[in-house]
Amino acid sequence: MKQVLIEDFPAWRTQARELIQAGVEPSQVHFVDGKSGQPLLFDEPAQDQPKPEATKVPAEFLKLASVAAQYRDPDRWDLLYSVLHRLTNGEPYLLKIDVDSDIRRLRLMEKAIRRDIHKMHAFVRFRKIELEGDAEYIAWHRPDHYIVRAATPFFARRFGNMRWAILTPDESAYWDGAELIFGPGAPRDAAPDDDGLEDLWRTYYASIFNPARINLRAMRAEMPVRHWATLPEAQIISNLTREAGFRVQTMIKDQAPSALPWVPQQATLQALREAAIRCEGCELHKCATQVVFGAGPEGARVVLVGEQPGDEEDLAGSPFVGPAGRLLSRALEEAEVDRSALYVTNAVKHFKFIERGKRRIHAKPGGIEISACRPWLEAELEAVKPELVVCLGATAAQSLMGRDFRVTRDRGQFQPHRWAKQIMATIHPSALLRMPEPDRREQEYRLFVHDLALIRPYMQT
Ligand code: URA
Ligand code: SF4
Repeated sequence: MKQVLIEDFPAWRTQARELIQAGVEPSQVHFVDGKSGQPLLFDEPAQDQPKPEATKVPAEFLKLASVAAQYRDPDRWDLLYSVLHRLTNGEPYLLKIDVDSDIRRLRLMEKAIRRDIHKMHAFVRFRKIELEGDAEYIAWHRPDHYIVRAATPFFARRFGNMRWAILTPDESAYWDGAELIFGPGAPRDAAPDDDGLEDLWRTYYASIFNPARINLRAMRAEMPVRHWATLPEAQIISNLTREAGFRVQTMIKDQAPSALPWVPQQATLQALREAAIRCEGCELHKCATQVVFGAGPEGARVVLVGEQPGDEEDLAGSPFVGPAGRLLSRALEEAEVDRSALYVTNAVKHFKFIERGKRRIHAKPGGIEISACRPWLEAELEAVKPELVVCLGATAAQSLMGRDFRVTRDRGQFQPHRWAKQIMATIHPSALLRMPEPDRREQEYRLFVHDLALIRPYMQT
């Protein structure tokens, strides 16, 4: 039997393609996992472009395979080859067959990887280290799978203007403020404690990641695996259960507030909704009763975005159920738009208020809160993929279209948008409720209904 050593997914892809073209059966080849065994010194991020495809491989498979390739199981390469072989030899619809045992295994792997990445985002704890006057943040984490490359761009986005490193047994990642660099893993089966981690950083990583990063090859030569065997045992104390360092949340104090660390990537609405319960992205979660997430079908063609939940929404946990919500429902009905087919949400997910005796008076969310909460809104739009987004009022409009947007000037106008084919803004129903003068209110209400009627063509697509 032919044996092929595989170090990473691009290598497998190249090999597998050649083998498929040569008509090699899965039983005639065994992929040996280059990742099992000692910590690896990793190659530079794969530069090799995929060769022009002679064999047609569904993009869906490549995507699934690139995720499953991160699963910690040396047999995954053989499994992937076997599925690829079946796909290209008479079973083109194999991926649709969820009950197939190979496909089920791949799907389970995919799920485990997503969960593992999410866990890494939520549980990495950083420790601050002063090095030649500069602050660096380091963390130790032990993922279940080979997810360092998939999981760390999140931290680069989140902590873009800091320097940090995450060490794991398989691979380490370093962000120098501009570029994400991957290096060798830290000693396997050992979690350095506070001081051990700091020593490890000072002795090895700080130098390999800094000047040497211009020459990865030299770095690799200087960092042979055998060094790890000489690390003093005392530095290698297992203490995953202790609160070593501090959580991502502490780092947030040095940055603008943001929900981002709590937002799972590429998640379903249900997963987002569950994750939002724990959001501490800004101060607002402290006083509100609960998070008020969006409501409506995942397949909605149109999304309505309000400002923030009000008093009744805060208690009920659903958007637009108070006075403004009732007015909205009435106007939608008159505009002949079925509210139950819409996805309705808010720019900010927690109620902001000031207490006056027993009453809680609505307070307008500020730019900091709107920005902090925007990742939830974007994740909702990414999950729903609407044809049209309708912003109710300036807060929603400015969150999605920038601070220069003026509802009075730009209402009712459609424009293309990153998160939807079209976006449009109208006034907020609360603004109508606040108008003291009945004639004016009636007139504005008519305009509001008119704007909402513009939604109708988008409901059918
Ligand atoms: N106003 C809003 O913007 N959203 C709600 O959910 C309720 C009132
Ligand atoms: Fe998180 Fe948004 Fe609530 Fe702030 S308002 S805590 S960002 S959900």
